[in-house]
Amino acid sequence: MREQSFCLVLCVMMVCWDELDHHVVSHFRSYTYRYLINSYDFLNSSLIIKPSHLNYPYLINHPVKCGGRDGKNWDDVLLLLFVKSSPENFERRQAIRDTWGNESFVRSELGVSVRLVFAVGIHPDAEQRSRVQKALLQEDQVYRDLIQQNFVDTFHNLTVKLILQFHWKHTYCPQAHFLMSADDDIFVHMPNLVKYLQHLLSSQTGAKDLWVGHVHRGAPPVRIKHSKYHVPYDLYPWPSYPDYTAGAGYVVSGDVATKIYQATRLLNSSMYIDDVFMGMCAKAMGVSPQEHVYFSGEGKTPYHPCIYNHMITSHGHATDVRSLWQAATDPTAYRNSRGFMNNLYCTAVRVMLLCIPYYQNTYSCIAAFT
Ligand SMILES: *[C@@H]1O[C@H](CO)[C@@H](O)[C@H](O)[C@H]1NC(C)=O
Ligand SMILES: *[C@@H]1O[C@H](CO)[C@@H](O)[C@H](O)[C@H]1NC(C)=O
Ligand SMILES: *[C@@H]1O[C@H](CO)[C@@H](O)[C@H](O)[C@H]1NC(C)=O
Ligand SMILES: *[C@@H]1O[C@H](CO)[C@@H](O)[C@H](O)[C@H]1NC(C)=O
Repeated sequence: MREQSFCLVLCVMMVCWDELDHHVVSHFRSYTYRYLINSYDFLNSSLIIKPSHLNYPYLINHPVKCGGRDGKNWDDVLLLLFVKSSPENFERRQAIRDTWGNESFVRSELGVSVRLVFAVGIHPDAEQRSRVQKALLQEDQVYRDLIQQNFVDTFHNLTVKLILQFHWKHTYCPQAHFLMSADDDIFVHMPNLVKYLQHLLSSQTGAKDLWVGHVHRGAPPVRIKHSKYHVPYDLYPWPSYPDYTAGAGYVVSGDVATKIYQATRLLNSSMYIDDVFMGMCAKAMGVSPQEHVYFSGEGKTPYHPCIYNHMITSHGHATDVRSLWQAATDPTAYRNSRGFMNNLYCTAVRVMLLCIPYYQNTYSCIAAFT
């Protein structure tokens, strides 16, 4: 009995502690950049560096991808799609170009303009570097969609890749209404995403102040030494990260992209976990992420038409992007999904797929009822 109540107290304490962390995060969420210099003491001024233009030089670039020759005639771009890729991932890039990243499909079928580019560094293995580099140059000759800077493409340089994306958007595609950053093993349901973004654009508040994805709230830094995500105290002394979206796939509006770009020049970028660094930048600029139930974090979507109707992103698709694209954008998959009875049926299916923990859960149970 004694032990049980001790356990209970401990559990209650842990829950409260969690909430306390949470509280700290949400409490400071509303602080804007104005306060950063003076009274920001959760992420404090120790993170501020001298504004730097430090940038790795571009090895492959496409400065007029979004128009803007001589600083004018910018194309009307709804969405700039930035896919984080690795030099050797040719197959994954090809699958994306052929499916959800197909610019002409989006133009002809959805009637809007998107731009697809891949962010890469240089191959980490010095012996293979020149061979891989040659292949990259050849690939780029054909598709003209690689953006490469001269940094070693490693896990610990992901933040460098994040900065590349915001720098490139700011410099070469400033007019794009939205920026999406995505891993090269995710699936994006482009028709659903475009519909969602167009809806935002036409809404009253417009496409401002938006950062949307699968949100991690009050996540604590991993202090265990042998973990892949180990972060020592001198890198990040606070007990909780600011809120951030899973790096697998998220979208920001143009104004937020500008703010993040500015923050990347003012904050120490040695936080190598790119998602967290993004959260730090956003927090410094007074931007908070919004949850969208159909953006996936880690999980892979259940394959079902009742899901295809709603899904935006799904993670872990190194090999099945093409088949999922076919299935998810097949117009006949939707023909039978309208009407009251079908809504009921689809809700029941989604409850089965998302709320019962026998399947790998991608989207939260709430998503079943939207
Ligand atoms: C920033 O916060 C850390 C950890 O709380 C603290 O050690 C440090 O003194 C603070 N620095 C400034 C400049 O306030
Ligand atoms: C891209 O979309 C266009 C227009 O729908 C289509 O004609 C073309 O075959 C697609 N490209 C690939 C590689 O699938
Ligand atoms: C990041 O890239 C730079 C430039 O190539 C390199 O000097 C550095 O070692 C890389 N860092 C990591 C952790 O791989
Ligand atoms: C950034 O932070 C790291 C780790 O705390 C530190 O070693 C480095 O000197 C800082 N860089 C700048 C430019 O202040």
